[in-house]
Parts: sequence; structure tokens; C-alpha cells
Amino acid sequence: MEIDVSTERAGEIDVQALAIPFFKGETAEGEFTSQLDEATKNLIRSTVESEELTGKEGEMVYLYLGANNGEAKGARPQRLLLIGAGEREEYKAAHASNLAGAAARFLRGKNVKSIGFMPRGGGSNGKASDGEAASFISAAVEGVTLGMFDTDKYRTSDREERIIERLVIIDAGDGDAGREAAQRGRVVGEAVNFARDLANEPGLYMTPTIMAERAQGIADEYKLEIDVLDHERMEAEGMGALLGVARGSTEPAKLIVLKYTPEGYEAKEGEPLLALVGKGLTFDSGGISLKPGENMEQMKYDMCGGAAVLGAMRAIAQLKPSMPVLGVVPSSENMPDARAIKPGDIVRAMNGKTIEVINTDAEGRLILADAMGYAKKLGATHIIDLATLTGAVVVALGDVNVAVLGTDQKLINDIIAAGTEVGEKYWQLPLDKEYSKQIKSDIADLKNIGGRKGGTITAAAFLKEFAEDTSWAHLDIAGTAWSDDAKPHRAKGPTGIAVRMLVNLVERYARDGMK
Ligand code: BES
Ligand code: MN
Ligand code: ZN
Repeated sequence: MEIDVSTERAGEIDVQALAIPFFKGETAEGEFTSQLDEATKNLIRSTVESEELTGKEGEMVYLYLGANNGEAKGARPQRLLLIGAGEREEYKAAHASNLAGAAARFLRGKNVKSIGFMPRGGGSNGKASDGEAASFISAAVEGVTLGMFDTDKYRTSDREERIIERLVIIDAGDGDAGREAAQRGRVVGEAVNFARDLANEPGLYMTPTIMAERAQGIADEYKLEIDVLDHERMEAEGMGALLGVARGSTEPAKLIVLKYTPEGYEAKEGEPLLALVGKGLTFDSGGISLKPGENMEQMKYDMCGGAAVLGAMRAIAQLKPSMPVLGVVPSSENMPDARAIKPGDIVRAMNGKTIEVINTDAEGRLILADAMGYAKKLGATHIIDLATLTGAVVVALGDVNVAVLGTDQKLINDIIAAGTEVGEKYWQLPLDKEYSKQIKSDIADLKNIGGRKGGTITAAAFLKEFAEDTSWAHLDIAGTAWSDDAKPHRAKGPTGIAVRMLVNLVERYARDGMK
């Protein structure tokens, strides 16, 4: 998809369709809408008067203007899509992302190949070219990119073949800030789609080895440092928890480490280092504590935390923020086998703590324990881990909110705020020390499950033992990484949750500092 930013008037842009947000309470008399009304020979007035166009969120009014519409005024697009955007005062960049995605999906369905989108953000009628208007432009490009992602790559018939070849964003400013913003939007959108593509792959095509190869691909293309630890090196590091999980699989486990360092950056004493640690469990059968067969195929997406880290690192490498970021992805399968770890076995993690494995299906926390240990060894002062960790979070928060828990309240607050800005929801759960009692073992330091009560919290309480005194936040994305329903702005399936939040968070920290 070719992406342009234009400062021409909307009606003069050479595209097949124009998509424009329309706010609640707008009439054909507004400064902007009156021009639109004139160019469409009063179609705005009649659709508003008939109450077909009210500006309600999610509303779509599609007008086919025909070849001779408004030619006198030079209106070239023959189709106009008005998208309900809700209240003007509540209109944020995150809405523009969804509206643009929904518009692109709708228009693709009409076989439109080129679209113009006017974000209308930042100042009334989008007349400002300030940072705010730029953030709407970035969000719009990101939204269209996300909207164009499909999950049918392995279908040989009935595939979605239609593509939008050209997107023109209409910038009311001078175009320079807009072009930079559009580029950012593309980078972020493609990074999210990268993570979604990894998640969509079946276990057969997304083994730990392949995941490491995909990370290598990013490192080569966007110039990141990479190190992939194999079995031997993990053994030398004492990663008994991660290797315990991998025992039942013939696919060798990998610990993928990516590092972004800004050009000319020299680490000074006391400088913070943020590590993103993502669960990359490429297939979770449950191991000897085998999962029921029904829906087991979904466990190919148990690597979404890892995919989000790779996606975020991919975007960070291109956007080049002024702070270093570490990405750590422990990748393994969890399979039943004669050599597999058994309920009751005890493993020793890298930090020396011993763990009684009561249930081999609580494997995510085991591989994360060693990955967090390694992130600390590499100098991480702040850790954000992401994982499809518990079924309990699906019960608690459904597919709407990510659960966030941790030991650093500022980090948690920053995650929630960074999420809100990009349209992702994060909800904090408590992590009082009382919960840690549930993971005390009779014969080792810890056991890997805490019983039925507060399953998402006891999983986090387990991870806390490995964050130790490092600032840490944990994101349980089990409910939000995969969507069972399509939305107007995106296909069903992998959502790429957390990539946008992480990129936004890193950019904010690079700008404002971490303290
Ligand atoms: N990968 C699963 C969690 C999961 C469940 C992810 C549903 C996505 C959707 C995790 O490894 C797991 O099996 N967790 C167990 C933990 C239990 C044994 C304490 C669970 O939640 O049932
Ligand atoms: Mn499991
Ligand atoms: Zn799992």
C-alpha cells in the first residue's frame, strides 16, 4: 500500500473514495461540513435531516456520488463514506485509528483501490498541524494498516484478494509533520501485524527455532543486536525451569535476546535499562498434565507475549527512540513425552530458587522465571513481562482488559496511561503478599500453582519471586491476544495486543525520562 500525505483540499484528491469522520450534532452548516454539502449537492443536508447521519459511533453512511458529481467544484472522488465519530470533545487519536481501519475494510469490500482519509483531529476541523494533529495522522495510517491484515494466508480458495493500493491522508497543516507521522503510523501498524502473523502461524510452522529465525530477520533488517541461547548455553546459565518445560519436546528451546541501543549511546552508571520479556510458548499441550482436546488448537497462540516483544522491538528499531531497550523471549513447546517433566518434579531456576512442578500446564511462569533472571543478568533495571499466562484472566477480565500487576506502581500507571492513548485497556489487579502463601511448597521454595483462588494473581506472585527487587510489571494477555469476533476495524484472530502500548511507552520514556 502506497501512503501519501496531501495538503490539497479533500475534494481535489485523486482517489476513488473519501472517508471522513462525522461528529454527533454536526449539521450541513458547519465550516467544514458546508463545503462538503456543497460538493455533494446537498447530500449532507438530506442525510442529516433524514437522521440517517447522526454521527453516532460506528455509524457508516456510504454515498455513491457518481461520475458527474460536483465536477464544477472539482470534486474528484466518486464515493464518500461518512463514519460516525461520536462526540467531538471525546474524539482521540485511538478513535481515528479504529475509524480509519473500519473505513478501509468497508471500502475494500466495495472494491475501492484508493482512498482518502481525513483524520479531523487536533483543533477544530483538523486545521492544526501541531503534535496533536500529527498523532491523529499516525493513528489513521496505523488503523488502515491493521484493518488490512487477514488471517487466511493458508487458504487456497475464497481468499480475500482485494487490496487497497493507495491511501492518502489529508493533512490540514503544511504536510511535513504529517508525513513523518504517517511514516510512524506505518511502522507501528506493520509491527503489530508482524506480531499477529507470528501468532496466526500453527505450531508446526512456528517452532522455537523458527521464532528465533524470525527474530534474526528483524535484527538483520533493522540493525538490532541479537543473541540466541541454545540448550547448552541455557544449561550453563542454570536455567532449569525453562529447560524443564522443554524436556518433553523434540523441538529445542531457544532464549531469544534482542537489544536496541541508540546511536552514540553510552551507558552511564545508574542509567535505567528497560527489558521487555515475552512468553514464547509455541504450542501448549499442557505437557503430562495434558489439556482437554477441545479448543487445544488455540494453544498455538501461547507465544503472543513473545510475538508482542518482537513486534515492539521491530518498531523501536525503526523509530529510534533515545533510550536502549532489551527484548527477551523464552521460546519452547510444552509437550507430553517419556522424557517430559512430571507432576511432582523439582526444577532449579537460574536465580537458585527451587520449584516443585505440581502441574506441568503452568509452564509459562517457569520459562519466564529464567528469562527474567537472564534479563537481570544483562542489566535490566525495569522489567515488563507479557504472557498468555492464565485461563483465570479470561474469566476475570474477558477479552477487553489486559491484567496488569507488579511491584512498581509508577511503571504500572505509565503502562495504563500509554495503553489508553493507543486504545488498549489495562486493568490493575492487586498483588498483596498474602497471595504468596498459596505458592509455598512443602518440599521446595515454591510450587508452580496456587490453587483455584485468584489464579491470575498467584501466577504473578510466582513471577515476583524472580523479579526480586527489580522494578517490574506483569501483563496477562491470555484474554486479549486473540479475538473470537471480527470488529469493523479488524479481522478476528490475533490482535497484536500490547505492541502499540509498548512502543508508545518507550517513546514517552525516551522523551520524558523513566523517573
Ligand atoms: N497458556 C495457558 C493459559 C491460557 C489459557 C492462555 C487460555 C490462553 C487462553 C497456560 O499455560 C495455562 O495452561 N495455564 C493454566 C494454569 C493452571 C494449570 C494453574 C490455566 O490457566 O488453566
Ligand atoms: Mn499451560
Ligand atoms: Zn501456556
